[in-house]
Amino acid sequence: MKNDPTIDIDIKRAPTSKIDSIDFENLKFGYIFTDHMMTCDYENGSWQTPKIMPYGPISMEPSAKVFHYGQAVFEGMKAFKDDQDQIWMFRPKDNFNRINISAKRMAIPEFPEDYFFTALDALLKMDKDWIKKGFGNSLYIRPFVIATEPGVSASPGTNYKFMIICSPAKSYYNGEVRVKFSENYSRAADGGVGFAKAAGNYGAQFYPTNLAKEEGYQQIIWTDANTHSFLEEAGTMNIFFRINDTLITTPTNDRILDGITRKSLIALAEENNINVEIRKVPVQEILDAAKEGILKEIFGTGTAATVNPISGFGYKGDKHELPKLTDSYATFFKDKLMKIQYNLAEDKHGWRYLVK
Ligand SMILES: Cc1ncc(COP(=O)(O)O)c(C=O)c1O
Repeated sequence: MKNDPTIDIDIKRAPTSKIDSIDFENLKFGYIFTDHMMTCDYENGSWQTPKIMPYGPISMEPSAKVFHYGQAVFEGMKAFKDDQDQIWMFRPKDNFNRINISAKRMAIPEFPEDYFFTALDALLKMDKDWIKKGFGNSLYIRPFVIATEPGVSASPGTNYKFMIICSPAKSYYNGEVRVKFSENYSRAADGGVGFAKAAGNYGAQFYPTNLAKEEGYQQIIWTDANTHSFLEEAGTMNIFFRINDTLITTPTNDRILDGITRKSLIALAEENNINVEIRKVPVQEILDAAKEGILKEIFGTGTAATVNPISGFGYKGDKHELPKLTDSYATFFKDKLMKIQYNLAEDKHGWRYLVK
């Protein structure tokens, strides 16, 4: 996970910075981008010299395979600044490993680790003023790979582009999130690409999510494609259920993303003596627990929101509200995780990565 000063990076600086025109107090998540971006082409069977250049449009032929066959994968990670102006990332090696797991499944060549960390560190140092201090402020980092080879034959491309773009983010609060448990639509199937951050997994969720929005829900909790009777994950979050004082979350498998926040939270739960059961979660069990009044919380975990409490859910026309707790696990874990991310608490697990 070291950056390597012997790796060449072509750097072209933006002549001026846009930063003074940005209202950092009112950022809409994911719409403002920093001054620079990283790009690296795969040609003739190898990754070429990474480049850092001013953020801006790229040009590609309309026949590029990404447009026709969706050969594209991405990651989502964050950088944080502490009071001493040091820049930290949280478990970035896991994101790096995951983009290559996703790439492999989509027949995209894997990206070298030393290129990734050398270029990412250089990019973050160039755009360091975009990472604001203060609990909740961060820089959202979006690495992605696309197939750029022109040609509409349905076969994997020979040329790719690996890019990293960055977007400043405020503390992400979705407001009240009500979710619908999926009754018919599926996000992923056995043997499919659900475990990968393949672009098409996300595009395919938009239509069912729009239908759920018409019914007053913000998101869907997907159920297993075969029976729709087990709860799996949400659009960009893994899901935890608290029944009495036990947390339950589904095991990851080839339909479910192996979330970095999820596994961090499981580790924190274990060290704080909170019982976590990693097992299938039947819809019926959650309905019964809600009826008995022992379903205390549902929350999602993911890089964007860290921990996102869910205020209610719906299934087959019935709506259930969750109690508002003063001792919620969601708040407890969000605080614990964020303090580690912002270098405000001890990092027992070695999760923090200092950008040098
Ligand atoms: C489908 C899906 N599940 C879960 C997550 C949460 O993963 P992480 O905690 O690594 O951000 C994400 C976001 O990356 C996601 O896209």
